[in-house]
Amino acid sequence: MLYDPMAVGIYFATTTGKTQDVAERLHALLGSANTPKDLADVADVSEFNEFDGLICGTPTWNTGADTERSGTAWDAVLEDIAELDLGGKPVAVFGLGDSGSYTDNFCDAMEELHNFFKQAGATMVGYVDKSDYTFEESKSVVGDQFCGLALDEDSESDMTDDRLARWAEQLKHEMPGL
Ligand SMILES: Cc1cc2nc3c(=O)[nH]c(=O)nc-3n(C[C@H](O)[C@H](O)[C@H](O)COP(=O)(O)O)c2cc1C
Repeated sequence: MLYDPMAVGIYFATTTGKTQDVAERLHALLGSANTPKDLADVADVSEFNEFDGLICGTPTWNTGADTERSGTAWDAVLEDIAELDLGGKPVAVFGLGDSGSYTDNFCDAMEELHNFFKQAGATMVGYVDKSDYTFEESKSVVGDQFCGLALDEDSESDMTDDRLARWAEQLKHEMPGL
């Protein structure tokens, strides 16, 4: 498959469909990014090289785990991602979790994905202030910020539209090609 050379790719993995739904809502806000693609349909993550920028979404299912926190197809490709050479391309991650039921591990998988893309040489963008959220702990917090967009379709779904709209505007500044 050939992509627009200035394209931004959106990828997601999901177990119950919420991360896909959010990826599609984000795509509608961004317009110029590629149609979101399920990581389960990706044979080789080297296709990420085709893009100028990437936006990647992951839920958290493996509560409290240090590694393979997502519990989705991302877990199996993290090492492969680290071996890519993304040469400073901008990458933003978003995570879905539940700040009510999993308040000590809110969106933990987002930071794992973030770190493997960083190892691939990506320029990580899309950091978000944590003050807008109610939770106890998250591995995805660095200082006062989440290392991407944390979303909660279980306990704070009424906030998702605003969070997505703000993040879409932020990414338009931080990610050339959008
Ligand atoms: C068994 C189970 C474990 C979960 N563990 C976490 C967790 O550790 N941290 C978190 O923030 N959310 C956790 N969640 C919430 C999911 O991440 C959340 O429902 C997410 O939206 C699911 O996304 P998906 O439909 O794309 O798979 C868990 C949910 C279940 C049912």
